[in-house]
Amino acid sequence: MPEIEVVRATESDIPFIVATERRPGFESLVGRWEAAQHAEAMTEPRYAYFLARALHDGGEPEPLGFALLRDWNGPERSTLLKRIAVAEPGQGHGTALLNGLIDRVFGETQAHRLSLGLFPHNLRARRAYESAGFQAEGISRGSAFVGGQHHDELVMAILRPDWLARKT
Ligand SMILES: CC(C)(COP(=O)(O)OP(=O)(O)OC[C@H]1O[C@@H](n2cnc3c(N)ncnc32)[C@H](O)[C@@H]1OP(=O)(O)O)[C@@H](O)C(=O)NCCC(=O)NCCS
Repeated sequence: MPEIEVVRATESDIPFIVATERRPGFESLVGRWEAAQHAEAMTEPRYAYFLARALHDGGEPEPLGFALLRDWNGPERSTLLKRIAVAEPGQGHGTALLNGLIDRVFGETQAHRLSLGLFPHNLRARRAYESAGFQAEGISRGSAFVGGQHHDELVMAILRPDWLARKT
């Protein structure tokens, strides 16, 4: 696998983000916004966008995936991983992005908790989150309103002490 860096995304990355949300098969797994909504969110300090990029010798970095965090560096010290998707799943890119994200959240902010909700049938995502140190906490009933219906979500989280323990 090439070296992967995790960097803040900018407005010029929105076409990649929008296309990645719309990869075939992702419609039942991850939310999607129009480009204008991403552009608006990027102006708000509570949102933070990150990209995983592959570094190739002498070439331009290649975007592999993105993540959208909400309540970045908020006073509640609890950040939400609102959305994450990679263009080519199952190649380790998501785990690399998650590891970089976790380091950024706990290394750059006062956050105590990084949490997320996923559909319980999304076993690939669950496995990737577990690999990165997230623990399943329980089912949040009817917490996702998608396609006109209310869906249960599995809540997973990693806390600052978990992150510190993994680093040693
Ligand atoms: C979720 C996502 C970001 C994870 O990134 P990824 O690059 O696919 O993840 P990785 O390849 O790093 O790791 C996937 C893990 O799941 C495992 N896996 C792959 N397919 C699986 C399946 N069908 N069932 C269970 N586990 C599976 C892999 O073996 C790997 O586990 P390992 O690290 O123990 O070997 C990516 O799959 C994705 O973008 N999915 C579509 C959008 C989505 O579901 N977003 C999350 C919404 S909550």
